[in-house]
Amino acid sequence: MEALEAQDMQDRGDGTPHHKRLRQIPAVTGKFLALMAASAPDEGAFLEVGTSAGYSALWITRALAERKDTQLITFELLPEKADLARETFKKAKVESLIELVNGDARGNVGNYAEVAFCFLDCEKEMYPEVYDLVVPNLVPGGLFLADNVTSHAEELQEFVENAERDHRVDSLVVTIGKGLLLCRKR
Ligand SMILES: C[S@@+](CC[C@H](N)C(=O)[O-])C[C@H]1O[C@@H](n2cnc3c(N)ncnc32)[C@H](O)[C@@H]1O
Repeated sequence: MEALEAQDMQDRGDGTPHHKRLRQIPAVTGKFLALMAASAPDEGAFLEVGTSAGYSALWITRALAERKDTQLITFELLPEKADLARETFKKAKVESLIELVNGDARGNVGNYAEVAFCFLDCEKEMYPEVYDLVVPNLVPGGLFLADNVTSHAEELQEFVENAERDHRVDSLVVTIGKGLLLCRKR
């Protein structure tokens, strides 16, 4: 985890192009995700959209280590990032807890009939589509979290307002890290 944190900090300062940067969550967001994942319902899939090099997935797997037979299914569009994530999961010895899917999450993420937990952290214009694909499949008490809602407040304003008006979920913006939208299925 420390190596990924150092790489992410270097990326942000040395002119690495946007698509090559790791663009990771801050550690405080990781701790919060781990707590939320540990509180998710027992039944249902655990999903992540936007793996990058696997930093946030490592936090989520902290909760999975306590559960039987639950894997995190994490989606990464770019093959080079998926390769980095594979390396991360191997080094951290959590390969058995994670299924890494290299491809566009939008073609897949709606196929899980029962979802206990979903963390969304990809390009912001995809947020509404992923929300619409996942939220109908959340089990009662299932959790949906989306990052960057305060760092990208203007871009994500309509998305957040729509979630706050959505009667299927209770929602709250949690102002830690870059801001997380937290939704819990009623
Ligand atoms: C902000 S980074 C994710 C950081 C990661 N969650 C972490 O904290 O370690 C966003 C990632 O989403 C990936 N991505 C973008 N669009 C995607 C899509 N449609 N399906 C899957 N991954 C996507 C990008 O390639 C990028 O690696």
